[in-house]
Amino acid sequence: MSTAELFDDAWSPSGWRSRPAGQQPDWPDPTALEEVGATLRALPPLVFAGEARTLTESLAAAQDGRAFLLLAGDCAESFHQFSADAIRDKLRVILQMSVVLTYGSGVPTVKVGRMAGQFTKPRSSPTEVRDGVELPSFRGDTINDFAFDELARRPDPTRLVRAYHQSAATMNLLRAFAKGGFADLARVHAWNQEFVASSPEGRRYDVLAAEIERALRFMEACGIDLQGELALHQVDVWTAHEALLLEYEEALTRRDSITGDWYDCSAHLLWAGERTNEPQGAHVEFLAGVHNPVGVKIGPSAGPDDVVALCERLNPQRHPGRLVLFSRMGADRVSEALPPLLRAVAMSGHPVLWACDPMHGNTFVHASGYKTRRFDDVLRELRGFFAACEAADVSAGGVHVELTGDDVTECLGGSEEVLDEHLERRYETICDPRLNARQSLDLAFEVAALLRR
Ligand code: PEP
Ligand code: CO
Repeated sequence: MSTAELFDDAWSPSGWRSRPAGQQPDWPDPTALEEVGATLRALPPLVFAGEARTLTESLAAAQDGRAFLLLAGDCAESFHQFSADAIRDKLRVILQMSVVLTYGSGVPTVKVGRMAGQFTKPRSSPTEVRDGVELPSFRGDTINDFAFDELARRPDPTRLVRAYHQSAATMNLLRAFAKGGFADLARVHAWNQEFVASSPEGRRYDVLAAEIERALRFMEACGIDLQGELALHQVDVWTAHEALLLEYEEALTRRDSITGDWYDCSAHLLWAGERTNEPQGAHVEFLAGVHNPVGVKIGPSAGPDDVVALCERLNPQRHPGRLVLFSRMGADRVSEALPPLLRAVAMSGHPVLWACDPMHGNTFVHASGYKTRRFDDVLRELRGFFAACEAADVSAGGVHVELTGDDVTECLGGSEEVLDEHLERRYETICDPRLNARQSLDLAFEVAALLRR
């Protein structure tokens, strides 16, 4: 399909500028921001339009139960915590979770990293007060620094260029790992890191990995040429982030030389967050015109009409795989808030991939001051989501989680329980609390069981 058929011809990458945009910083020097836009426009795209189209096809499969989406990574990537090991360990957890999900469900896992561009954060308040000092809130490393001092918190547009280069380096390593042997299924045991392997879910994973190895040996013994089966040796890992800082997204939006269509080449999939998802707002206006697959976070305050309006706005041609709706209701509200939305979208006939973000509706501030989530609430929301989808006869098509490959103590609970008093041990996130590698694997087993049902 051409641009003219699929989208409004009048759309332009800068059209969002005439709409209200929430969650933007107060840039002290708008000219400097414009200069950075010009710098970014001259830099190469990070992804190729053809890749975004392939992802759209995979999401279309997930929409009708022939695949399952796993979108996972940091709440916010960081300039300071940037290392090859951290990227490798995150990918390792994603690969482990994918094996568990695919083995349990019998369908392929579409792997998407909240990586290589997930830097900018919406905040509940524009300022932060500590000991009587009020400073601008930290909005992600693309904008200002986490450190609580006046200079660090000043929005600095040169950070956009640094984010671009870190994204390029991250993307490069992800591609190398995905295609260069690290993701080879023959290494299924090696993805189990030591501190994970000793836990109950790590042992459970080892049993599963041994079964997979036995199956591979069996196939080989039957005369199947496993060496020649590319799918056993390489994977696709796609990237995604919240399209919040629209100057950055606009600058990386390019016309595809093959189709002539616009693609946001900063990532394969972009989404609008819960605080910037108004159908008439700037963020949705921007996403409406790019041909990447796009997502929207849907919270408990969204009504059926809002959600159908978003579908109309973002996917008027009703293209399968184009639109993902991430339900993030909270464990206590999902059973009552989600069913009317599922019904309304089904009634409208819009093809949508429904996925569950079981994290963002379950965040609270612990008495110790740490922002955290209970692993049990995360699982409870997942169960509520699956039950609501089943009752509405809609495919539960994916999960969206915040995780890290490290042994952090940011979310409470899990089988090797993170207790209230453990939070301070390894609380390293610069934004929302993430599942550690064990909790992530635990969650994958839980989702696999839900998918089998
Ligand atoms: C996030 O994904 O980090 C986030 C801010 O989510 P939401 O928009 O759903 O609150
Ligand atoms: Co978050």
